[in-house]
Amino acid sequence: MGKHKYIVQLVFYIQNNLEVHQKTIFLVVLNIINGLTIHSMKKRFSVLVTRRLHRSALKELEKKCNVYLYSGEIPIPKKILISKIKDMEGLICHPYDTVDEEVISNAKNLKVISTFSVGFDHIDIEIAKSRKIKIGYTPEVLTNATAELTIGLILDILRRISEGDRIIRNKKWNQIFGAYDYTGTEVSGKIIGIIGMGRIGREVAKKANGLGMKVIYHNRKPVSKRLEKMLKAKYVSENILYKNSDIISLHIPYNNNTHHLMNSKIFKKMKKTSFLINTSRGKIVNEKHLITALKTKQIQGVGMDVYEVEPIKKDNPLLKLENVVLAPHVGSSTKETRQKMSDITAKNLISGLEGKKLLYSV
Ligand code: DGY
Repeated sequence: MGKHKYIVQLVFYIQNNLEVHQKTIFLVVLNIINGLTIHSMKKRFSVLVTRRLHRSALKELEKKCNVYLYSGEIPIPKKILISKIKDMEGLICHPYDTVDEEVISNAKNLKVISTFSVGFDHIDIEIAKSRKIKIGYTPEVLTNATAELTIGLILDILRRISEGDRIIRNKKWNQIFGAYDYTGTEVSGKIIGIIGMGRIGREVAKKANGLGMKVIYHNRKPVSKRLEKMLKAKYVSENILYKNSDIISLHIPYNNNTHHLMNSKIFKKMKKTSFLINTSRGKIVNEKHLITALKTKQIQGVGMDVYEVEPIKKDNPLLKLENVVLAPHVGSSTKETRQKMSDITAKNLISGLEGKKLLYSV
């Protein structure tokens, strides 16, 4: 009440004693103070970002959040993740950050997890959902990039591009001078068997058409007839796909049902001249069985972007095999796509924290 009296007196004094221009200045100052107060009173969310994002995405976050950007060793060690996440309301994470029950149970205030990826097998979705934590991810924007890398691996392993690069660098070109010393396999006319006809599988089918390949696929259920016609793709059983494909490309999520889906039993069903391409998740393939299949020529070769353990160990036998092309998990790693992934990750997080619908939610 006392304070109120003084404010009234002050306003009275200003009304009666100040010149017009002084009054204007006073009002401007008052508005600024008022604005700042309102701004500082607005709730700011505490968020943990486990890796650098694009500047534009960080800026958006900083408008509404107090951002803790972890800048140490990659991936963030679990111990640090657990200690940092304690008071956080939001988390931006990456596929190498395991957000399991232990992490989630330490995050008492956590409202939203926004992952910088289309895959979300690193997050315990069930536990998060039971805690009503919203989960955002970044599909669509990385479809083309991942499909491009898939085609890149197909061309590389069939035409032996990386192998040739190694030969030249090792100064052994003179050893493959004969007309038949270094023949690859032509891509055009081959049958590609796509396992998983989601966004990325469809994009691979489109691009494979462009290269003159025939497309067969297996999925939980067939896609619409209209889409099949557009993609020139034929639905087949898993067994028919394994038996008839010259190239098998995996585009399915990793979960209990797809763990080691590709194993010695399946490799035995495949053509001896066939190739496997994996740009989805490493643990879908039993790597030990794959190495045996490659060594014993049960299949002809493999193009991989993902592995059971990433980065792969220095003594991984894959490193010694020639009929293998290895990419360091870069399916979505283009400048264009990473910018979009950054922006969506930030937007998903902010929307979730503000109680709005996420752009893409799991
Ligand atoms: C994904 O988005 O899941 C990719 O594997 C990213 O790295």
